[in-house]
Amino acid sequence: MFDEIGFPGGAELDDDDAPALYNFVYCSRAADGVDDVEVGRIVESAQRRNLARGITGVLVFGSGVFFQWIEGPAAEVQELIASLHGDSRHYDIVSLNRSEEKRERLYPNWEMERVEAEHIRAVLQDALESAEDENNVAALRRILDHLASGSFESLGRS
Ligand SMILES: Cc1cc2nc3c(=O)[nH]c(=O)nc-3n(C[C@H](O)[C@H](O)[C@H](O)COP(=O)(O)O)c2cc1C
Repeated sequence: MFDEIGFPGGAELDDDDAPALYNFVYCSRAADGVDDVEVGRIVESAQRRNLARGITGVLVFGSGVFFQWIEGPAAEVQELIASLHGDSRHYDIVSLNRSEEKRERLYPNWEMERVEAEHIRAVLQDALESAEDENNVAALRRILDHLASGSFESLGRS
């Protein structure tokens, strides 16, 4: 399923010539009142800021849930992670992956691209199956329950 939304297989992930790249992947729930228009604002300002910091990635928003893939230099990504944790426009942040390795970027041309949300449930279900931290498991269950209680048709429209 990862391949369907543009995640590569393992082949490119161990490139000795590539610089070390810090990667943070998480999901969260949008705060009340955060709608399509607000997400548009978030993306617009993220693109400007990320361009200046060498950060690229993908943001998915659907049914009140965010999923974001962030990659870039370690110091800049870590600073962004701190900002994200202090941003009241979302909560229940669950870290799905946090790592640093020598590899090419997955999204070298996307300063922060908003993509369709139709795959978000499957991505979260996969994360739940491999999650070990009990707080992550609990937050992922809350997110999935939230998705299950809403109408799935709205996922594609975000
Ligand atoms: C779901 C979501 C995704 C965000 N993505 C980014 C991003 O990719 N880049 C960015 O600079 N800010 C992003 N922001 C905004 C940051 O949380 C923060 O407001 C911004 O970086 C300014 O941080 P500062 O006030 O600590 O300087 C995002 C916010 C939300 C709610």
